[in-house]
Amino acid sequence: MTGLSDSFQRPINYLRISVTDRCNLRCIYCLPPGGVRLLSHGEILTYEEIHTIARAAAELGINKIRLTGGEPLVRSGLPELIQMLAQIEAIDDISLTTNGTLLSHYAAELKQAGLRRVNVSLDTLKQDKFEFITRLGNNLGQVLEGIEVAKAVGLNPVKLNMVVMSGVNDDELLDFAGKTIAEDWHVRFIELMPVTGEGSTAPKFVSAGEMRQRLELLGELEPCLPSIGNGPAKYFRLPHAKGTVGFITPVSEHFCFRCNRLRLTADGKLRPCLLSDYEIDLKQPLRSGISSAGLKQLFEEAVANKPLRHHLAEGYVPKERPFSQVGG
Ligand code: 5AD
Ligand code: SF4
Repeated sequence: MTGLSDSFQRPINYLRISVTDRCNLRCIYCLPPGGVRLLSHGEILTYEEIHTIARAAAELGINKIRLTGGEPLVRSGLPELIQMLAQIEAIDDISLTTNGTLLSHYAAELKQAGLRRVNVSLDTLKQDKFEFITRLGNNLGQVLEGIEVAKAVGLNPVKLNMVVMSGVNDDELLDFAGKTIAEDWHVRFIELMPVTGEGSTAPKFVSAGEMRQRLELLGELEPCLPSIGNGPAKYFRLPHAKGTVGFITPVSEHFCFRCNRLRLTADGKLRPCLLSDYEIDLKQPLRSGISSAGLKQLFEEAVANKPLRHHLAEGYVPKERPFSQVGG
């Protein structure tokens, strides 16, 4: 096995798989208020099809898989899929990104199926704001409980993703950072990407530079290595903190030069870049009986066409599909 690398010599070893476009929340930065057209059952890859794709990917050198959505836990039988993926020998890290609302219910089963760790989206610690940001959520308590149960069953490290929005939740930066001092919370502050296109009602972005400045009220941020993974975040520790804070800077400082990932949409399109509309269909070829060699060729084609970088800073955002179908 030689491993995949793209035309800019970036090694590609990470596949993010969106298992559903459905979500039980409607976060203001992700979806328009009325939601978006949903895929029908037949349009979505079956678990067998996902497994076939993952096996071909593993033969090409993919060794890390993350399951995303929509909200992956609204698709029934997710532990079954995890069990299937965990049996692929070359895959040594399976993780999940979730909004946490259903996590306390599934955490033990997920762990047992072979899931290694979870990232939970958590943008506020206040119930009224949780309702405002998620539009449908009335269950912040359930998310917090999900985080605790995930830790207790060993889905560690649990990382918390906070999308920071000016005037919405940026007043909670210090509360979140404070949590990393007393408890072993791993919080990642994410710059808002302007992907929902709602004009003046869209929430406003705060740069990571500004976030860092505000956090320094709590003490100096000491750079540290990530506890696991080699994703785009830069990590720091506050003085005497048990946990860490990280910054993900898609807007102020793109990290495309060390991007190692591909994405598979719920309807079977292989997408080399979150922020470009270019994608290659795997579903139709699969349903017409393509061989494993043929599938691998399509992977190689997608990788060869992986764009060098995104163009958010120049105002370009992908238009062809809602973000909720690509899994963040
Ligand atoms: N900007 C930044 N991050 C986003 N996510 C979703 N939409 C956006 C956006 N507009 C992230 C959320 C979630 C993950 C799935 O994708 O943090 O944790
Ligand atoms: Fe990777 Fe594309 Fe995201 Fe850049 S924009 S980090 S290349 S997926």
